[in-house]
Amino acid sequence: MKLRGLLTLAMATQVVVTATALLASHALTGAAGGFGVPQIVALLASAAIAVLLVRLCMRAIETSQDQRTAAALADQAKAAAESAQLTQAVIKTALDAFIQTDERGIVLEWSLQAEALTGWTRQEALGADVVDLLVAAPLRDGFRQRMMRLMPELSNTPIGIGFEATLLHREGDEILIEASSTALQIGGRTVINNFVKDVTQKRAAEEQLIQAQKMEAVGQLTGGIAHEFNNMLTVITGTIEILADAVKDNPPLATITKLISEAADRGAALTSSLLSFARKQALQPAEIDVNELLEELAKLLLATFDKNIQIVTRLDGNVWLAFADRGQLSSALLNLAINARDAMQDGGRLTLRTRNVVFGVREAVAVGAGYAGDYVEIEIADSGTGIPRTNIERIFDPFFSTKDVGKGTGLGLSMVFGFVKQSGGGIKVTSEEGRGTTFTIYLPKAETSTLRPTGYDERKVVGGTETILCVEDDRDVRQYVTVQLESLGYKVIPAGNATEALAIAAQGTPFDLLFTDIVMAGALNGRELADEMVAARPSLRVLFTSGYAHDVPHGPGHATMGAPLLTKPYRKAELARMLRRSLDTAVDSVGDPIPTPYSVQADVEGFLRKSERNGR
Ligand SMILES: Nc1ncnc2c1ncn2[C@@H]1O[C@H](COP(=O)(O)OP(=O)(O)OP(=O)(O)O)[C@@H](O)[C@H]1O
Ligand SMILES: [Mg+2]
Repeated sequence: MKLRGLLTLAMATQVVVTATALLASHALTGAAGGFGVPQIVALLASAAIAVLLVRLCMRAIETSQDQRTAAALADQAKAAAESAQLTQAVIKTALDAFIQTDERGIVLEWSLQAEALTGWTRQEALGADVVDLLVAAPLRDGFRQRMMRLMPELSNTPIGIGFEATLLHREGDEILIEASSTALQIGGRTVINNFVKDVTQKRAAEEQLIQAQKMEAVGQLTGGIAHEFNNMLTVITGTIEILADAVKDNPPLATITKLISEAADRGAALTSSLLSFARKQALQPAEIDVNELLEELAKLLLATFDKNIQIVTRLDGNVWLAFADRGQLSSALLNLAINARDAMQDGGRLTLRTRNVVFGVREAVAVGAGYAGDYVEIEIADSGTGIPRTNIERIFDPFFSTKDVGKGTGLGLSMVFGFVKQSGGGIKVTSEEGRGTTFTIYLPKAETSTLRPTGYDERKVVGGTETILCVEDDRDVRQYVTVQLESLGYKVIPAGNATEALAIAAQGTPFDLLFTDIVMAGALNGRELADEMVAARPSLRVLFTSGYAHDVPHGPGHATMGAPLLTKPYRKAELARMLRRSLDTAVDSVGDPIPTPYSVQADVEGFLRKSERNGR
């Protein structure tokens, strides 16, 4: 507006000046004079003034235009600086690493997070080829080809593309990443912006969760089946002895009963493995000196394994006592050792190692251990064939075996897994094909206050004459137990559930011991029944039985010992011993009954609550 005004003013001035000059010359020469020298002079003067005015105006216009351009440039520069600052701030605060390259993959920008993710500093990365930095040498060509294929897609997609890749940290570790890339055209060249996220841990955790859920599901199924089988086997293993006794003078029948008995034993061994996998094995945890156990194992292996397998022990002399079931731990270690032997057909080295470890939450979770704290680590390493990657996540599955039919049932590692988990510990496996496999077990450190198991005494079968209230909801098992107890000399009052048992007690019927299943259908379970009865009669002795074990609790204070718990299936001799233990321990030196509360550990309660929740 200003410029147009200036020009209009200049033109108006020029018109006035010309008109005035012409008028003045006319006045001087008179009207008749025509167009003479004075007019020409006047016109020239007005033209000179016009040129002057135009000059002035042009200068004014130029100055104003210059100022405007300068202001616009300053605005642009400011906006660019602000945008660069903003970009830098986004890059700096982004959780993901930022890597910018040109279209050939040469690094143009490398954020702090990229330094942390890859181990390469910005200084080292700038100007380098991103593929050389982050991809293992044998995979580089393939990676570049993939990048080239992605380029057209990348350039055509304003929102960019996401992909996953395995990269290499500067230290050589693999990192699994998720990246999102966009291509930008800046000043005629292409830059590629990549935001890269490390998902190694996340993926490992997801895989572990899936594996844990799978094991849980298979475990529940297996546990349920094994539980039912146990009840049936309890009837067979128990009654077969009575039958054998009756037919001992008839050799053919005696042979048949022996066959039945052996088959039942095999069945019991199988259900025991399955229960162990399902973490439902009745464990008797105690303080264990794992070094002593491993030395015993080493001796056994030395005597039985081929001489081309070298057995090495590396035991930490200061290793803590572990808290676990000794028998089960022995068989778990033996299972691992046998697997190791099978993987070393041409000989090799088996190393047994112990040490103490203190786990934070992260480490505990990584090995699937129950809680952060102190653990005893037992490692069994072999130099055998190793386990192929594709198999490694299946080795703990029940019935997974790569051994020939008849050579392996595939239950060994499932048992080890179940036992370790049930003991509140964890297990880890690392393996490299052709180099060997290492299984590492973590067992909770024992609390020093833990009671030692009293163990079974080896006295011969002793019966009694006391009266036993026998509560069992499975009709067959109840019948069998009644027969067993009677054959031991006891008087038996059978009851099909807690309500029946309480009614019998309410009638004032005398009895000395309550023998009850823990998990029972009905209003009360075995534990609640015992609670009610002992509240009314503190000197009452109680013996529990169960096919299911309580889940061993994690953390301190788990005094599992001293629980009079008879696990199914059991033999007559075990029943007899447990009864005498329950009946006799509560008698003082002069034979008077001591009113001992049966004090069953907190974990039985935990188990009961759980089974109630599950509606068992
Ligand atoms: N130390 C090892 N080295 C190589 N492979 C192993 C090792 N331990 C286990 N495996 C693999 O894991 C599979 C499962 O082992 P697991 O102990 O559960 O069953 P199994 O040994 O085949 O049979 P079972 O132990 O019931 O007799 C094995 O068949 C084998 O393929
Ligand atoms: Mg095995």
